[in-house]
Formats: sequence, structure tokens, C-alpha cells
Amino acid sequence: MYIGSYRLSNNLIVAPMAGVTDRPFRTLCKYFGAGHAVSEMMTADKTLRMSKKSLYRANFDGELAPISAQIAGSDPEQLAEAARYQVANGAQIVDINMGCPAKKVCNKLAGSALLQDEDLVARILDTVVAAVDVPVTLKTRLGFLNGQENILRVAKRAEEAGIAALALHGRTREDMYLNHARYELIKQVKQLIGIPVIANGDIDSPEKAKYVLDYTGADAIMIGRAAQGRPWIFREIGHYLKTGEHLATPDIAEVKAVLLGHLSELYQFYGEYSGCRIARKHIAWYTKGLRSSNEFRQNMYKVESTADQAKVVEAYFDQLLDLGQRMSDVQVEQVNLLEIK
Ligand SMILES: Cc1cc2nc3c(=O)[nH]c(=O)nc-3n(C[C@H](O)[C@H](O)[C@H](O)COP(=O)(O)O)c2cc1C
Repeated sequence: MYIGSYRLSNNLIVAPMAGVTDRPFRTLCKYFGAGHAVSEMMTADKTLRMSKKSLYRANFDGELAPISAQIAGSDPEQLAEAARYQVANGAQIVDINMGCPAKKVCNKLAGSALLQDEDLVARILDTVVAAVDVPVTLKTRLGFLNGQENILRVAKRAEEAGIAALALHGRTREDMYLNHARYELIKQVKQLIGIPVIANGDIDSPEKAKYVLDYTGADAIMIGRAAQGRPWIFREIGHYLKTGEHLATPDIAEVKAVLLGHLSELYQFYGEYSGCRIARKHIAWYTKGLRSSNEFRQNMYKVESTADQAKVVEAYFDQLLDLGQRMSDVQVEQVNLLEIK
């Protein structure tokens, strides 16, 4: 699949997740076979651009191309300026966030709240596309309220504005993260427009990935929460889509190596204080469902230095290896395919 002139190595994309998909995590997902990744959202408000958080989010040093920077805001000119800034900062693709349901974002009429004002949506799309020479993509939801889904109009308008690809989360703002993602409207959008459509929402297994691709006809799929603590999901899905066969789950020794490598990257990226704290949630995700993991996490949260944190993680995994725990013993929650449409 192409985004503008960029040919992606495959059609599996890491969803942008603020607080999760920082440069180390995106790099890891790409290593495991994700064909593309989008940065965490960055506010278009330039007064916040030099905050520590924004600087981490805008750090693309050494990242594999194409580099996609996501911007969020509600003022067309401000978003256009933010797009130009991100391109000057190394972004090769600019992604506009019209999907975030968070109150903090929606109260400023940004993220998914924009879907309530289609004229403003159109102005934003036209202005940002005109502002930069790189492809501009859009990530959004089905609509603001259930029963008032306006994605067909928004998608058509996005295509007319020159948007290069549309990523669509199969929920409304009202749904937040409740209910199941609905794929019927994604299918209709795909039939309606000619630009690449990326289906998103609740894809958490190779079968689900194949189901969503087949059902919607989408050009690509985007995976968020299921990749937390499981970056190898891209390898598993890629293999299944190619061969129809399941790849063995990584064994404990591989998970240990991946996690320790991930921690080392986080420590280098964020430094001692933030590195230790940001790593905690990743460690929690990687260890979910493993033997005595609750007890391990309670102890791990108390550790205050990166060196000690890496040590307790290593010791925990060594203990699992001694006990012969296998990853295949871990239950991964899956959604019943028959319940969704
Ligand atoms: C912790 C978290 C942070 C998120 N941050 C962003 C963001 O910065 N930008 C965005 O467009 N979507 C964001 N999302 C939404 C995801 O990109 C995705 O649309 C959503 O999680 C549904 O996909 P999934 O079911 O595969 O997780 C976030 C989701 C989560 C769970």
C-alpha cells in the first residue's frame, strides 16, 4: 500500500497511542514487522511545543521511514503551522487527529469533537493539505454520536481535500472504547472513496486481522491496544496473512530478551527518572497473565532506579524459565467474531 509516494512494506500499521507509541515502541513494532507507525498526538498549540512531553513526542531521530507525525487541534491555521513545523522537524507524513475522545481534547473542540462541525473539518483538511508538500492523512471515528454517524460525508470530503489515506476507528465518540468496533461503515467508506482506507478497532489476533481485512475490503489495518506488551503481534499477523498458518507464540526467553531490549531503549530515550516510570506500564503489559505476575508487579512498581528495575525484571523471567512457564499458557482475551459486524 502507498501513502502518497511512500510504499509501505506491508499493510499492518501501529495505531498512534499517546503515552505508549513513543519512538522506542514504534521502532520495536517496525522491527517485528509493522509496515508503518504514527507518532503520539502532538498539540498544534505552539506555546506547548517546548514542553518536555512535546519534545519527546517530536523526537524522530533515527526512525525508519516513512515518519508520520500526528497533530491535534481545532484551528485550521494553527494546524497548518503545526504541520509545517513537523515537516521541518523530519516528518514525511502528517496525520490529523479527529478521533481522540478524551474530554481534555474534545472540550477544546479537537479530536473527535470536530466531527460535529463538518464545515470546520473541511477547512482544516483543505488548509493543512495546502500547507505542506508531504502526504497528509486523517485518523477519525464513525461520527460523534451514535445514530448520527457522518463518516461517509467526512470521508468523501477528505478525499476531495487531497487526504492521502484515511484511518478509521469503528466507533463513535459516544462509544469511547465501549461496545465492539463496528466494521460495516468502514466497508461502506472503502466502497465510497478511492484513497487507501485503514481499518481500526479491536483487532487483536491473526484471525481477527484477516476477518477485518476481508470483511471491510480495507487496504490496511491499524492495531493499537493489542500491541501493548505484545509487539510481536505484527509478526504473527503478517505470517498468518501470508501462509494461513499460526506462528508459535514467542517463548519466555524471547519475551525476556525483547522486554529487556525495550527497557534499555526507554532508559536511553527518557533518561533515568522518566525512563523508570514510563517503563512500568510496559512491564505490566508484557507480564500480564504470567505466573505470580500480580505480586511481581506490586514489587516492581516500588523500584525507583532503572538499573534495579531491569534487575527485578530479569530475575522474574529467570524464575519463570526455571519453572518452565510457557507463553502458550497465557490466556489472551479475544472477541468472538460472530458478535461483531
Ligand atoms: C492509551 C491510548 C492512547 C491513544 N492515543 C491516541 C493518539 O494519540 N492519537 C490517536 O489518533 N488515537 C489515539 N488512540 C486511539 C488508537 O489509535 C486506536 O484508534 C484505538 O485504540 C482503537 O484501536 P485498538 O482497538 O486497536 O486499540 C489511543 C488509544 C489508547 C488506548
